Amino acid sequence: MTSILRIETSIKGEASVSRKLTDRIVARLTDATPGARVTVRDLSAGVPQIDGAWIGAVYTPAEARTADQDRIAAYSDALLDEVKAADVLVIALPVYNFGLPAQLKSWIDHLARKGETFRYTEKGPEGLLTGKRAIVALSSDGTKMGSEIDFASGYLRHMLGFFGIADVEFIAADRMVFDPEATLKAAEAEVDRLAA
Ligand SMILES: Cc1cc2nc3c(=O)[nH]c(=O)nc-3n(C[C@H](O)[C@H](O)[C@H](O)COP(=O)(O)O)c2cc1C
Repeated sequence: MTSILRIETSIKGEASVSRKLTDRIVARLTDATPGARVTVRDLSAGVPQIDGAWIGAVYTPAEARTADQDRIAAYSDALLDEVKAADVLVIALPVYNFGLPAQLKSWIDHLARKGETFRYTEKGPEGLLTGKRAIVALSSDGTKMGSEIDFASGYLRHMLGFFGIADVEFIAADRMVFDPEATLKAAEAEVDRLAA
């Protein structure tokens, strides 16, 4: 059974553009693959930042962890297990201050665990989450995707690739401020053309 993991990140609630696009992407995928399982992880309320206690917890073998470390590792493991179980990731990427929303960056920080999502070999780093597809819904007011002031899409593509996810497509409703209706319409049409 196909498993879809939907990652929401916008702080704009019902007004979110990226959420409109992820809605449509998930509908497109589930229409094409009835029975697909959809898991939603809404990060919009925030994700605890990694810190020293986090490093201590996730790199201590499970049987040697304290109760506190168990609790910290359990949250990180839950994020990781969802990604491992997914065939397709649908990720909302609102551009905030020319980069990723902090909660999406924190999600990535939780996932970036040596031996879980990547490892180092003699040939360099190797991603361990292979065989997955990612579809990213980017929205912005003025920042053009791929321009020199877009520090969001390239970074996210790099990190997904670092984890072994090379099949990454972007749907962009970027520069919404100029013609919001036409921009959203064009992005929605792109969603409808996605290979399911
Ligand atoms: C905190 C914040 C920072 C933003 N920074 C940028 C920015 O750097 N560049 C840009 O083009 N738009 C910026 N915007 C506008 C958002 O990208 C735009 O509202 C977009 O629709 C966000 O996606 P969302 O509607 O899914 O939240 C910002 C919006 C917020 C709330």
